[in-house]
Amino acid sequence: MSLLIRDAHIVTAVDDYYADIFIENETITLIGKDLPVTADRIIEAEQRLVIPGCVDPHIHFDLPFGKEGIVSSDDFQSGTIAAAHGGVTTIIDFATQQPGRSTLEALEIWHEKASGKCAVDYGFHMIITDMDEQRLSEIRYLMHDEGVTSFKMFTAYPGVLYVDDGTLYRVMKEVGELGGMIAMHAENGIVIDEIVKEARSQGKKAPRWHAITRPTRMEAEAVHRCISIAEVAGAPIYIVHMSCADALEELCRARDRGVAAYGETCPQYLFLDESYYRQEGFEGAKYVMTPALREKWNQEELWRGLRMGDLQTIGTDHCPFFFETQKTIGREDFTRIPNGAPGVENRMALLFTGGVVEERISLHKFVEITSTAAAKLFGLFPRKGTIAVGSDADLVIFDPQRTETISVENPLTHHMNVDYNAYEGFEVQGVPDIVISRGSVVVENGQFVGRAGRGRYLERSQPVLV
Ligand code: URP
Ligand code: ZN
Ligand code: ZN
Repeated sequence: MSLLIRDAHIVTAVDDYYADIFIENETITLIGKDLPVTADRIIEAEQRLVIPGCVDPHIHFDLPFGKEGIVSSDDFQSGTIAAAHGGVTTIIDFATQQPGRSTLEALEIWHEKASGKCAVDYGFHMIITDMDEQRLSEIRYLMHDEGVTSFKMFTAYPGVLYVDDGTLYRVMKEVGELGGMIAMHAENGIVIDEIVKEARSQGKKAPRWHAITRPTRMEAEAVHRCISIAEVAGAPIYIVHMSCADALEELCRARDRGVAAYGETCPQYLFLDESYYRQEGFEGAKYVMTPALREKWNQEELWRGLRMGDLQTIGTDHCPFFFETQKTIGREDFTRIPNGAPGVENRMALLFTGGVVEERISLHKFVEITSTAAAKLFGLFPRKGTIAVGSDADLVIFDPQRTETISVENPLTHHMNVDYNAYEGFEVQGVPDIVISRGSVVVENGQFVGRAGRGRYLERSQPVLV
């Protein structure tokens, strides 16, 4: 099977030129002006933008969340189809170790969840919840034999996912020695739980207390601590879902002294703010996620971090729960609301609008933060994250002018299996027209034309430190 994309305006994190792209089977084999080839299918790009398929490094499909084990509502099928609609051709989800059990068992469970379901390519980070000396060898096996090269830990969620500083150090040292990457959910969960206890004892149980009980300082403290431990242990560290200026300041300070510390932020922290918790009734529950939404002024600081290269990537932390049937479990008590919100489908359009159209970042930076940097940091580059001979033909033919209004009711902006959209009513400019995954058109004319199960598991290499 071959595909020729004629007269493309190719933009990557570093390139900007017009050419044809010839794809054989799954790979780009030729790029050039007026290529003298024919193909099974020819797409006339007519100078439309062609950019690398997006890589979303922070996804939670089919995730049992918290002590109550409520499962996130997108599985690997509905979630990857929604991702494809949003121009995402690679996702990295998180296999999660059960405390006291093997990480290899966790990987097997997550393979079962994903196998035969994915519409685009996928990989797994490994969430570590405990790690004694005897189990440390699993890390080497995961890295060398299973292509799992990044390991996530939490200083949030005590009693569920939280790990202590000793475990952090032990895992970081091993991962650092083996050339892997640490990913951290950095918040001081121990102190936050105390603040939560105080609030509940005073009858403060509405959704807005979720944000009030999680101060930005407690995110900053954990970012500082985790980076310091990683520095001593000799591991590169990637802080997931950074939400605020306080935490970003700690990341910048570490980077300024040369530490291999990286940061991800998410669309929710760039476009939403704590006022969403003050909506009528129980509406605020839709935005109960961790870290919480922050005061609006933080948004420009995060954009600055992206522009200046202190933050490297955008992940969505896509973790949807139905408002009517899942979020409502916490109607009387915000601590029971499952944490997370949907977003995988809307990241590209939101970022193009808020970033490129509103002139906060360049088009190259847009490609870098939505695709290239994550591919590099998580061992997928240059197979993913760029347009080059030999790379997988993961491409988005992108219309930078077309506008849409994001809505749960709009069949062009919402395919996620959840009954609300966190960006309801947002006007976006710039949407994917055609999405190609490994040489195969998967979305065209607003329709999914791919196949669930075609997505392939990605054995990842060591990170390229950007
Ligand atoms: O609220 C969130 N972020 N839910 C998903 C789990 C996590 O903390 O990343
Ligand atoms: Zn997290
Ligand atoms: Zn997450």
